[in-house]
Amino acid sequence: MPNDQKDQEKEAAARASLRFVKDGNVVGLGTGSTAKYFIQLLGEQVKGGLRIRGIPSSDRSREQAASLGIPLTTLDECQQIDVTVDGADEVDPQLRLIKGGGGALLREKIVASATRQYVIITDASKRVPVLGKFPLPVEVIKFAQALVTKRIEALGAKVILRQNSDGKPYLTDENNYILDCHFGQIRGADGLANKLSDMPGVVEHGLFIGMASVVLIANGSEVVELRR
Ligand code: A5P
Repeated sequence: MPNDQKDQEKEAAARASLRFVKDGNVVGLGTGSTAKYFIQLLGEQVKGGLRIRGIPSSDRSREQAASLGIPLTTLDECQQIDVTVDGADEVDPQLRLIKGGGGALLREKIVASATRQYVIITDASKRVPVLGKFPLPVEVIKFAQALVTKRIEALGAKVILRQNSDGKPYLTDENNYILDCHFGQIRGADGLANKLSDMPGVVEHGLFIGMASVVLIANGSEVVELRR
C-alpha cells in the first residue's frame, strides 16, 4: 500500500474516533503515527471549545499535546480515564492487538487498563487473521536482558534487542530495553501473554488481550467499526 494512502487511512480512522470523545472527558492519548493524527484533530476540537483533559501515554505525545494547547493531567491526579484513542501494530479477529512498535507499550497498557472505552484506530494494513507477522515487543529491565532473551528464545522466537540508528540500545520512556520477538504466527496468544507476564525481568509485553472496546479500521475512504 502506498504511504500516502496509509496516511489518509490513519487520518480517516483518527477522525472517526472523535465521536467517542465527549465534553468533560478525561482522554488517554495514544502514541505513534496514527495517534499523532488523533492528537492533532483533538487539538483542533479543543481550540473550538471542547473541554477535556488528556493523559499522554508517552513523552512524545505529551509534547505534541502540550504544543497544541490540550489541557493535561496525570494518573496521579486521576485514575479513571473515560476514553483512550491509540494505534496498533496488528489487530486480529478477536480484537487482540500487538502494540509497541513505537516503544510506548508499557505506559500505553497502563493507560488502557485505567480506561472505560479503549478505541483503537488503524489503517487497513494492520488487520491480520493471526497475530505475529509483526515482531512482538517485550519491555525488559536492563539487568535481565540476556536472561529474558534466552527464555523467550526457548519459547521459539528469534529475539532482537531494539537499537537506535547509532547502534546503541533503544531506551523506553521508563529507561528499559525492548526485545523485538519474531515468533511467526502466534497461535496461542493468551498462553504466550501469560508466560511472558510470569517471566521475571519482563516489565510488559505488547500483547493487548481483552482490552480494545472498539477498533476503527480505515479501508480507503471507508471506516469499519469492529466491537468485541
Ligand atoms: C507505540 O508504542 C505503539 O504501540 C503504537 O501504537 C503502534 O506501534 C502503532 O503505531 P503506528 O500508528 O505508528 O503504526
